[in-house]
Amino acid sequence: MIDARTFRDTMGRVPTGVCVITTKHADGALDGVTVGSFASLSLDPPLVIWSLDKKANCNEGFMKATHFAVNVLSEDQTDLSRVFATKEARPWEKLEHTPAEQTGSPLFRGCCAYMECAMETIHDGGDHDIFVGRVLNLQPAPAGRPLLHFGGAYRRLDEDKVD
Ligand SMILES: Cc1cc2nc3c(=O)[nH]c(=O)nc-3n(C[C@H](O)[C@H](O)[C@H](O)COP(=O)(O)O)c2cc1C
Repeated sequence: MIDARTFRDTMGRVPTGVCVITTKHADGALDGVTVGSFASLSLDPPLVIWSLDKKANCNEGFMKATHFAVNVLSEDQTDLSRVFATKEARPWEKLEHTPAEQTGSPLFRGCCAYMECAMETIHDGGDHDIFVGRVLNLQPAPAGRPLLHFGGAYRRLDEDKVD
């Protein structure tokens, strides 16, 4: 039997980037959530993957979503990460965001990279749902420094190469 605390602590040793995934629904409503599970899945076709707790308030919204955007957070965006990692309603009117070109999903200024995706498939993943997106549009910011999460804390990248 795997103890939940030990599982979390062990997974906390796996460093991740931090992304806010957003979507705009047909009725204009917006959803967004902070995730560390975002990863590249396939190059041909270009697919990305992330997972969302089935109990998250925004789960129902993302299960219905046809598109989403990925905001790859910069090291100075911990506040934004926290806004989208609470159970509170999202203060969209106080946040500066622009609609992504093809999908209208909210993009925040100052991120390291952006992606627009069409929802390709959704899979069951235990207590999470796994979302696979097909990349429609990419926008890297070459000078951006990413926000990292490791050992239960936000970190910045030490850019020294080891080899
Ligand atoms: C660094 C970080 C990474 C996270 N990664 C995920 C993730 O990959 N999947 C997930 O479901 N929740 C993740 N969370 C937790 C959600 O952001 C959090 O549960 C959020 O409150 C969900 O919002 P909602 O229930 O209001 O929709 C992460 C939180 C942080 C701070």
